[in-house]
Amino acid sequence: MTYVVTEACIRCKYMDCVEVCPVDCFYEGKNMLVIHPDICIDCGVCESECPVEAIVPDVDPRSVGWLEINRVCAMKWPNIIAKGEVPSDADQWRSVANKRGYFSQESGTVSRQSKEDA
Ligand code: SF4
Ligand code: F3S
Repeated sequence: MTYVVTEACIRCKYMDCVEVCPVDCFYEGKNMLVIHPDICIDCGVCESECPVEAIVPDVDPRSVGWLEINRVCAMKWPNIIAKGEVPSDADQWRSVANKRGYFSQESGTVSRQSKEDA
């Protein structure tokens, strides 16, 4: 079993989850994170950290379709082990439903660029 990042993360990307993961298995896309399902030890600690409840166990129906996206993107995107800069418009997206159309397959750079530019 693994935990899975789902649609609610898109364009919110609060990254509170990253701070608590004991095995650093989060990977950063342009507008969301994913969990590497083969590295996640199923501890469940991250689930309650996410302000938008984007993280669910893979037995939850909300994970349907997202488990494979987490697996594929975790192999392409960079590992993220510390919270970066949260998108400035994150709060505007936290109550938006059906964000699947905004999903980007691009690797994350926003939080690192922000740190480098600072
Ligand atoms: Fe990390 Fe535990 Fe969350 Fe898996 S369930 S991503 S190991 S914090
Ligand atoms: Fe996304 Fe929630 Fe983590 S919004 S980055 S899953 S804290």
